[in-house]
Parts: sequence; C-alpha cells; structure tokens
Amino acid sequence: MSVTVIVGAQWGDEGKGKLAHLLSKDSQFVLRYQGGSNAGHTVRCAGRTYKFKLLPSGILHPAVRCVLCAGVVINPLTVVEELADLGELNAPHGELIISRRAHLVLPFHCVQDEYFEEAKGKHAIGTTRRGIGPAYADKYFRVGLRAGEMLKPDFGARVKALAQRKNVLFSGYYHQAELDPDEVWAKVQPTVEVLAPLIADTVAVVRQAIASGAQILCEGAQGTLLDIDYGTYPFVTSSHPVSGGALLGTGLSYHELDSVIGVTKAYTTRVGAGPFPTEDVGPDGDQMRNAGVEYGTVTGRPRRCGWLDIPLLKYAAQLSGFTELALTKTDVLDNFSEIKACVAYEREGQRVEWPDLDPDVLTDCTPVYETLPGWFCDTTKAQHKADLPDALLDYISFITEQTGVPVRIVSVGPDMESTVFLS
Ligand code: IMP
Repeated sequence: MSVTVIVGAQWGDEGKGKLAHLLSKDSQFVLRYQGGSNAGHTVRCAGRTYKFKLLPSGILHPAVRCVLCAGVVINPLTVVEELADLGELNAPHGELIISRRAHLVLPFHCVQDEYFEEAKGKHAIGTTRRGIGPAYADKYFRVGLRAGEMLKPDFGARVKALAQRKNVLFSGYYHQAELDPDEVWAKVQPTVEVLAPLIADTVAVVRQAIASGAQILCEGAQGTLLDIDYGTYPFVTSSHPVSGGALLGTGLSYHELDSVIGVTKAYTTRVGAGPFPTEDVGPDGDQMRNAGVEYGTVTGRPRRCGWLDIPLLKYAAQLSGFTELALTKTDVLDNFSEIKACVAYEREGQRVEWPDLDPDVLTDCTPVYETLPGWFCDTTKAQHKADLPDALLDYISFITEQTGVPVRIVSVGPDMESTVFLS
C-alpha cells in the first residue's frame, strides 16, 4: 500500500494534471480532495488533449477508480458534461465515485459568484465565477445541499427552496435579477439520473482501499498560496489545497500518507488579483507567458508571470511536508540566457526570509534575486537526467539546496513522454 498526495506549491496551474495522470497509471485509486470546477487540469496523452475541471486526472486509465471526495464541491452539470465528452470521444475511462458528503454547486451559486464579484468592483478577487466561494459558504453556513441529497425524493423541492432563498439575496442585497426556481430545477433534474448511481459513502470506499493495500493517489487542485487559511487571503480560493486538506477532504488519516509531491513551475504564475512579489510585467514575463501558453484553462485569462519565489516555495514545502518536488515547464525557460530566483525579500530596509502572506505586507516586499546562467538550448526531447544540460541541473540543485526538498521529477513539455525522473 502507498498513499501519495500531489499538492500545488504555488498559485495553481503548476501542471498537476499531467503528473496526476502519469503517476495514477500505477494506482488503483485517485482521490480528488478539494476545489471544484474552478480547476482546469490539462492532460495530453495519445495525441489528444483533455481538459478536466472536476473529473480526477486519473480517469483516463480504465483500471483506476476515481473518487470525488467529501472536500470537493461538485457542479453536477459539469460532471455530466465531462462524462458525456469522454463518451463522445470514445475515451476508455475508469469508474467515477462521488462522495455523498460532497457539497453541490448549483446554478444560483455561479450567479451569486458573478453578482458578488461585480459588487466588489475594483476590489474583486478575480474568481473563476464557477460558484466555488458561494457553495463552500453555504456548506459552512450549513444550508448547502450535498450530493447524497440527490438520492432523496424531495431533492427537487430542496433545490427550489434554496433557489428561493438566494432570490431574496439577489434582489434585496445585490439589486440583481432573480432566478426562476423551476428553471433551476429543470437544469439540475436531468443530472440526477446520471449521477445517482455513482454516489456512495466514499469514506467506506477509502477504508476498503486501505485495507486491500491499494496504491492511492490524492490529487489536489489550485495551490498552497490560494489556500483559504494559508494563502494570500482574501485573494484565495475557498478550500484547502495543502496536504492537510487531503486528510480532511478524503477521510484518510495522517499516518497513512507516504509521500507528498509538491508541484512547482520553474517560474511562477498567478491568475486573478492579489500580491505576487516576483511578478515581471516586462519582456521576461511576456516571454514566459508566450512560451508557456500561460492563459487560464477555465477562464482563458492571461496569467501573470514572474521568476521563482524560493521563500514562498519553502513556506509551501513546510506547510505540506513535501517529500519531493516536481519541477514543471522547465522548457519554458529554454531561451533565457539568465535565470533569476528570488531568495529573500527586502522590506523597510530589512532583509526578510520568512514570507508574511498578508497582502499589504507581501505587496510591499521587493524580491532579492540570485542570477544563475541559463541553459539556452532545447530541452524538450530530454528523457533521462543525462539529457539535461548542466545549467538546468545546477538550477535544480539550487532549488533543492534552498528548499531542502529533492527535485525528483522534471517536466520538459506537456506530453507524458516529456518527463524526466531523476532517481
Ligand atoms: P475561485 O476559486 O473561483 O473562487 O477563485 C479564487 C481565486 O483562485 C482567483 O484568483 C482564481 O483565479 C484562483 N483560482 C481558482 N482556481 C484556480 C486554478 O485552478 N488555477 C489557478 N488559479 C485558480
């Protein structure tokens, strides 16, 4: 038995989808533990590109059982759409199991997300507008609907009643249009037939998996710096991407985790508002965006780009207990003659090593950079450590030394073959 957790070490979009697909081929179970259809996991395999918002990236392996666990918020319309897409593409896929405890994202949550962002004006968070915050808010307000309620005969009445409550908020508070509860139900109802057979007590499923000695991969969405408690609040998502979130989200216990892989790009990106000390709004940032096709999978927004931020990476490593790092998109830096990495900050004339993620403080921090030589060659065909140029190996050693976490996986392109295992 072994349990591995994949955690985003930055602000999401680190390439977890590729890694989850790659590593799940040896797993019997893939557990998605948090987030919802705000995620956009891209998997390129067998000449095709798949983009999953909710389905775990292991779904393309027919023998893998994929579980949307209790910590996930599930838009039933998105799951049905993604399953239908797989069917249309004739893509063989694994079994999907949905936790009866997982909360539902319903059409009024997406509308609430829109209204809320509009009302915030220039203080908007820049959410994906997929209803994530409102659905988690309803969960903690204890008025949300859970997937298990789809099995109850009065599910329609429950959906309509919540829609009605939202209308009070929409018209009275946001001064915006109401939704017709019957229309909301008309959208949701057809999903019940498809999803009802997939709903289960996934804690029992996970327990059986552990008892049978299965290989389990936990797939996180977003990244550490977007964690609701440990990220750059309020510019965060509403769940826990850190490894602790994998325990809460799945029902695994801490002594069952064997390894935690922190996934980091060789540089940094962020979508949406919030502090980003190493953001480069000049030609370097543009080059990273163009070479890395840094546009949001879910929203298409251009991502903000900049150099690697070691203090934030160390922070992520310590919070989640990374046992190893996967360094992704190193090929995006192939054409840089110099590579910069932020090793500390300067604030009010002082050198700062430990990041304070309060946006007012972090915005005020100026990165202190170390400059390393670039490798300035095409690395996209690399298959083995020996194929990697010395300057890239030096950059990898530098990251390991700085963070205290070994880099074990290097991703040099979007395809599964473009991956180098270092040990
Ligand atoms: P929400 O999760 O849609 O509420 O968005 C909150 C913040 O998290 C925004 O800045 C989003 O851009 C960001 N975010 C949410 N999901 C992702 C993701 O999968 N990748 C990168 N950023 C994300």
